[in-house]
Amino acid sequence: MLLSWLVRAAPAALLLVGVNASPVADHRKRASLDDFIKTQTEISLKGVLANIGPDGSKAGGVPAGIVVASPSRSNPDYWYTWTRDAALTYKALVERLIAGDTSLKQKIDDYVTAQAYLQGVSNPSGGPDTGGLGEPKFNVDRTAFTGAWGRPQRDGPALRATALTIYANWLIQNGGATQAKNTVWPVIAKDLAYVVKYWNQTGFDLWEEVNGSSYFTIAASHRALVEGVALATKLGQQCTGCAEAAPQVLCFAQSFWTGSYIDSNINVNDGRTGKDVNSIISSIHTFDPNANCTDATFQPCSARALANHKAVADSFRSIYGVNKGIAQGRAVGIGRYSEDVYYNGNPWYLATLAAAEQLYSAIYQWDKQGSITVNSVSLPFFRDILPSISVGTYQKGSSTYASILSAVKTYGDDFIAVVQKYTPANGALAEQFDRNNGSPLSAADLTWSYAAFLTATERRAGVVSPTWDEPSNNVPPKACTGTPACNTKTTFNVRATTTFGENIYVTGQLTQLGNWSPADAKPLSASKYTNSDPLWFAEIELPAGTVFEYKYIRKTANGQVVWESDPNRRFTTAVGCGSTATVNDTWR
Ligand SMILES: *[C@@H]1O[C@H](CO)[C@@H](O)[C@H](O)[C@H]1NC(C)=O
Ligand SMILES: *[C@@H]1O[C@H](CO)[C@@H](O)[C@H](O)[C@H]1NC(C)=O
Ligand SMILES: *[C@@H]1O[C@H](CO)[C@@H](O)[C@H](O)[C@H]1NC(C)=O
Ligand SMILES: *[C@@H]1O[C@H](CO)[C@@H](O)[C@H](O)[C@H]1NC(C)=O
Repeated sequence: MLLSWLVRAAPAALLLVGVNASPVADHRKRASLDDFIKTQTEISLKGVLANIGPDGSKAGGVPAGIVVASPSRSNPDYWYTWTRDAALTYKALVERLIAGDTSLKQKIDDYVTAQAYLQGVSNPSGGPDTGGLGEPKFNVDRTAFTGAWGRPQRDGPALRATALTIYANWLIQNGGATQAKNTVWPVIAKDLAYVVKYWNQTGFDLWEEVNGSSYFTIAASHRALVEGVALATKLGQQCTGCAEAAPQVLCFAQSFWTGSYIDSNINVNDGRTGKDVNSIISSIHTFDPNANCTDATFQPCSARALANHKAVADSFRSIYGVNKGIAQGRAVGIGRYSEDVYYNGNPWYLATLAAAEQLYSAIYQWDKQGSITVNSVSLPFFRDILPSISVGTYQKGSSTYASILSAVKTYGDDFIAVVQKYTPANGALAEQFDRNNGSPLSAADLTWSYAAFLTATERRAGVVSPTWDEPSNNVPPKACTGTPACNTKTTFNVRATTTFGENIYVTGQLTQLGNWSPADAKPLSASKYTNSDPLWFAEIELPAGTVFEYKYIRKTANGQVVWESDPNRRFTTAVGCGSTATVNDTWR
C-alpha cells in the first residue's frame, strides 16, 4: 500500500502527526527470540483476522472476505481494501489452512466470494474485461475508489490468482474438486487472462509510485501463469495463452538483473539505484520448496538472490539512525528503498521480516538439496556472515556446511530480533518504525505487517507453501518476445462548427492521442463537413479494451489553442484485436 501518490503533495507536517517520540522497546526486558515468536505469532494471526469482515474486531461494517489494509482512517487513511495486500494476506491464511488450521476455511470462502464480486466492479482502470482488474484498491464497501491514484497496478491479479490456486489445489486434495472448479477457478481464470493480456505493459509498482516494469509484478506473473496452467489441466479447464506467456515472462524477468543485484524498476527513468525490498519480497513470494537454487527464478538460495539480499540490506545500513553502529554481517532495519521519502523514509516491519524470510527459505532449500554452493556472485554475501568462507560446494554433513547454515540462521534470527526490538509491548505492528528512534510510525495494525510476521516465522519453523512447479518451468527461452500490439480502430466523430482556417484535433491520456499535448494532438478531417452537418472525424488506432480520457481542441488560424469545456470525456475502446468502435460527440 502506500500512498506516496497523494502524500507526496501533502505538507510534511501532516506526515508527522501521531509520531510517538519516545523509544519503545529499549526499556523493556526482552523475551527470548523463541518466546517472542510464540507470543507474536498469536498476536499477528489475531491482528490479521481483526482486519477482515464481517466479524473482524477492527473491521466493523466491512463485508465478508474484505481485508482492510489498516484500521487507520486518517494520517494515513488506509481504510480501503487493496488487491495486493488482501492476496498476500490470504496466501498466508491458506498456508495455515494447509498446515491444519481448518477453522480458516469459511474466511477463505468469503475471500473467494468477495473477489469474484470485486472483479465485476467497473472502476477508473476499466471494466471487468477492459483492464479493471488492475485497479489497486477499492472502498471497503466494495465500491470503486475514484480518486486520483497510481493506476493500474498489475501485480494484484497475479497475486490473487496464486492465493486462490493454492487454495484450489488444497480443495482438490480434500474432496472439494467441484468447488475448486465451479467457484474458485472462474476467479483465477479472469486474473490469468488479465496477466496474459497485460504482462508486457507498464504499470505502477507495489509501492504505487513508479510507472514502469516492476520486478515484483513480473515475478508474481510468472508464478501465477505456471501454476495456473497446471491447475487448469487438473480441472479440465483452459488457461488461454498462459502456457505461451509464462516462458516469455520469465525471459523478460532476466533483464532486471544488473550483474550484482536486481534493479526493481525498469522501463522507466526513476533516478533510483533500483535496490528495493521489492526484489526480496519477490524472492520469498516465488520461493518453491522443490526448487534448486535457480538464478533464473531468483530462488531464495540462488547466488543472485543472496547477492541482492546483501545489496538491499547494505543500502539501508548507513541511512537510518537505528542502524548506526551495527556491524556488517549483523541485521539492520530494512525499508522499501533508500531514496524513500514517505514519512521521511523509514524501516518497515514487513520489509525487515522479508529479509529474514528469504534466509529461512534458503536454509530449507539447501537442507533439501543436501549442499550449499558458494560462487563468485554469492561470495560477498557469505563473507559478511562467515569471513573465512571461499568459493566451493559444501555437502551436508561437512563442518563447513554446518557453519554456513548456522551463520545464515543466526543472521535470519537477527532480523527477527530487530523487529522484536521495535515492536511495542502489546505486539501491535504498524507499517513502519522511526528511522531514528524506532517508534512505530504510519498506519497502525497494518494487515500486511502481521501477515509478513506469520510467513517469516513459518519458514523459520520449516513450514512452506506448496510447490508451484518451478523445477519444470525455470529455463528462460533464448530470445525474448513481448506481446504483439492488440489495437482497435476508433472513429472519432465530433460535430463542431468552425470558421475558415480553424481545425479540430483530439488529444488525451494515451500516447496515440499525444498525452494531452496540443502539439501532439491528432488532427480530424473536415472532408465530410457541411453547413447542416459540421462533422469532423478521424480514425485512430488505439490499444484494445482500454479506458481513457480525452478532449477535442480547436486550433485557430493564428495558432491559438482552444480547449473544450470540462469535464474530460471518457471512452473504452472495443475489446479484441482489430475490432472497431465509433464515438459521436458534439463540441462543448
Ligand atoms: C515487453 O517484452 C519485451 C521482451 O521481453 C521487453 O523487451 C520489453 O521491455 C517489455 N516491455 C514491457 C513494458 O513490459
Ligand atoms: C505510464 O507510462 C507509459 C509509458 O511508459 C504511458 O504510456 C502511460 O500513460 C503512463 N501511465 C500513467 C498513468 O502515467
Ligand atoms: C537440482 O540439482 C540437482 C544437482 O544438480 C539435479 O540433479 C536435480 O535434478 C535438480 N532438481 C531440480 C528440481 O531441478
Ligand atoms: C455512433 O453512431 C454510430 C452510428 O451512427 C453507432 O453505430 C455507434 O454505436 C455510435 N457510438 C456510440 C459510442 O454510441
